[in-house]
Amino acid sequence: MKYYLTELSDIIRNRRSIKPEQFNSEPIEKETISALLENAKWAPTHGMTQPWRFTVFTGEGLAVLSEFQCETYKKLIGRDKFNQKVYDKLKARPFLASAVIVIGMKRQKSEKIPEIEEVQAVACAVQNMFLTATAMGIAAYWTTGGLTYKDEMKTFLGLEEGDKCLGLFYLGNYDGEMPTSERTEEKDFVKWITG
Ligand SMILES: Cc1cc2nc3c(=O)[nH]c(=O)nc-3n(C[C@H](O)[C@H](O)[C@H](O)COP(=O)(O)O)c2cc1C
Repeated sequence: MKYYLTELSDIIRNRRSIKPEQFNSEPIEKETISALLENAKWAPTHGMTQPWRFTVFTGEGLAVLSEFQCETYKKLIGRDKFNQKVYDKLKARPFLASAVIVIGMKRQKSEKIPEIEEVQAVACAVQNMFLTATAMGIAAYWTTGGLTYKDEMKTFLGLEEGDKCLGLFYLGNYDGEMPTSERTEEKDFVKWITG
């Protein structure tokens, strides 16, 4: 065995989504976030397009994200459907995190590689970050809620028409118990053809 497989399996299996409401206020160093991003880029990428684009909000930057989220929601929703609770959550949530990495996918100019493969490559990059965060004892949460799929989000991030936002990756420190989770058994998701 070339690597410590037990350790790797533990990281994969113990990775959990921890929502920002559960984070404590202990900050994460910029260098630590850079280390996550460095591992992100080693994801597989068809045609080496490396389609991941990350926008990192920290410090005062969290106020920029907060303002964008709640004010854009207000602008888009219309007065009759406006929900103060949704507005307040979009405003408050970024401040609960030490950093929020907004996940983007940059579409290849020639569009030779199918879009789904570019999305898959970015998802692999996010998982690289997620597992690295788990190994470091940092809490993380990937959400596609809020304004993820709105054109305004793309504009905000400087993305263009064929590009996509694939969600927000919240990072923070957490001192609670790691939640348990479950997955189905192999027979429920694997079909073996043996001859
Ligand atoms: C692409 C993606 C988007 C997600 N978006 C949300 C979300 O908007 N809200 C939410 O509660 N969880 C979201 N999750 C987290 C899942 O709920 C979580 O992964 C699942 O409950 C399994 O828990 P675990 O990650 O702790 O194993 C998302 C996960 C992925 C992969």
